[in-house]
Amino acid sequence: ESSTEIDISQIAPGQAIKAVFRKQPVFVRNLTPTEISEADKVPVSSLRDPQTLEERTKPGKTNWLITMGVCTHLGCVPLGAGEGEVKGEFGGYFCPCHGSVYDTAARIRKGPAPKNLEVPPYEFTSDTVVKIG
Ligand code: FES
Repeated sequence: ESSTEIDISQIAPGQAIKAVFRKQPVFVRNLTPTEISEADKVPVSSLRDPQTLEERTKPGKTNWLITMGVCTHLGCVPLGAGEGEVKGEFGGYFCPCHGSVYDTAARIRKGPAPKNLEVPPYEFTSDTVVKIG
């Protein structure tokens, strides 16, 4: 099938993992309370692609940020999920191809990318498993 099940039980707050969904990277991140408040204090109207963290996560599970790991500029894989934790100046993800910077809600904050990292369709099938797709 084209869905992907991911065990999230070992992803500590502040950590992100990279998985694969439909042959593309997907990032699953367990946000810390600080990262959540960093996202929440940004005025949404100031954003290039205005969305709240709550709109990008599931009710009661705001800490689980699940996005495609595909830069919305030209499709490179941003850094920040695993490899040395290069999160960039807004604490989220950094695309080394042309310098797009994403915040702790994976929203575009700087650089050429036009949109936030895409949130794929997903659901929690238990407290420790998420099914993407
Ligand atoms: Fe990410 Fe160009 S592909 S900044």
